[in-house]
Amino acid sequence: MTDSGNPRELISREALQRRIDELAAEIERDYAGSRDLLCVGVLKGSVFFLSDLLQRLSRPLVVDFFQTSSYRGETTSHGEVRIRRDLDHSLAGRDVLLIEDIVDTGYTMRTIMALMGFRGARSVRLCVLLDKACKRETAVRIHYRGFEVDDVFVVGYGLDYNDRYRNLPYIGVLDESTAGCQGQ
Ligand code: IMP
Ligand code: MG
Repeated sequence: MTDSGNPRELISREALQRRIDELAAEIERDYAGSRDLLCVGVLKGSVFFLSDLLQRLSRPLVVDFFQTSSYRGETTSHGEVRIRRDLDHSLAGRDVLLIEDIVDTGYTMRTIMALMGFRGARSVRLCVLLDKACKRETAVRIHYRGFEVDDVFVVGYGLDYNDRYRNLPYIGVLDESTAGCQGQ
């Protein structure tokens, strides 16, 4: 994959913001009765999304982050997930809203959600901006989904290629050469 040239806009800044309004309204409703909401972002890709999403919630909450193994220029993950930076907060008895940029094969989120259950979270729900559903290799339950995307490599609004492009205010397609999802 090349990273020269400008990404083609796939989801505009305005479309992102409109969808995040809707997701925030849904989350606000669903957690109305929860006393102890812990919002957990996955570094680094989720930070732009998390920031815009959580500023729209008026309920009390706590924000925490963890980081999984870095991408290292690879464009696929292989089912092995390593925690590089762990959470500051205990999960015991808490309602956890996990916030992620994109679910691809599903290995990262499956592993992390299982770990959170193991650590005693009262509930764990997943909120993802982008869902590459046709690439899934292991089942993951997504409670809040921004957009479904085709099998193309996307960057911007937190998503990177070799740590670049995160600051684009829109989601762009960097490389269209990967196979599409049609027929899969
Ligand atoms: P999974 O374990 O295959 O679901 O991998 C998810 C992770 O792969 C995401 O958190 C991203 O860091 C990365 N990833 C997958 N697809 C893309 C993409 O199109 N652009 C940028 N990062 C991606
Ligand atoms: Mg990620």
